[in-house]
Amino acid sequence: MFIVFEGIDGSGLTTQSKILGKYLEKRGKKVFLTKEPTENLIGKIIRKILKGQRKLNQETLALLFAADRSMHMDIIKERLKDSFVICDRYYFSNYAYQMLDVDIEYLIQINSRFLKPDLTIFLNVPPEVCKKRIDENREHIEIFETLETLERIKKNYLEIMERFRREGFNIAEIDGNRSIEETHEAVVKYLEKYIK
Ligand SMILES: Nc1ncnc2c1ncn2[C@@H]1O[C@H](COP(=O)(O)OP(=O)(O)OP(=O)(O)O)[C@@H](O)[C@H]1O
Ligand SMILES: [Mg+2]
Repeated sequence: MFIVFEGIDGSGLTTQSKILGKYLEKRGKKVFLTKEPTENLIGKIIRKILKGQRKLNQETLALLFAADRSMHMDIIKERLKDSFVICDRYYFSNYAYQMLDVDIEYLIQINSRFLKPDLTIFLNVPPEVCKKRIDENREHIEIFETLETLERIKKNYLEIMERFRREGFNIAEIDGNRSIEETHEAVVKYLEKYIK
């Protein structure tokens, strides 16, 4: 089963991916925890750009993400043969972040050949709360992490999630504006019917 976590920066994606991984392992499931951008060749370039160390236009960045995902796809497909794959961000992140500057139809087109997630969990957290979490916990602030940008990205996410839900994607919106444990419980509750 291919599970994806999505949300704005600081919404708890990495935290919840890890906890869910541990939870499933405790129940005897084989788990492969992964994230985008990856730690592979192209993912490393993307990280430099996100930190602001390199400048690049958003369309080129979107193509780099797609190239990184193309490499990632092979690994994910292999792991899906015997594991639950939990992916911390996937193409919805590209849609929500890059549609600020790039035509959404083009973004969807360059990602159209990639695997459809079985379940997507959108962690819904107010941008102010996310900004506070980021400021309190991190030394480096990335290019998208201003309050104004986070607000725009969140709006994009809601729009995108609605569109893909209509197209038959299984997308859950979970309130992540509460404790790590409470959020995790809500995630598990949603997943219960799928992970017998
Ligand atoms: N429910 C929560 N309540 C309070 N703090 C939280 C909660 N979830 C995560 N945090 C803290 O907020 C920070 C950001 O969380 P996390 O790294 O999981 O977010 P993320 O969505 O992966 O963000 P990023 O975009 O930076 O990867 C971390 O320091 C984490 O410990
Ligand atoms: Mg993270």
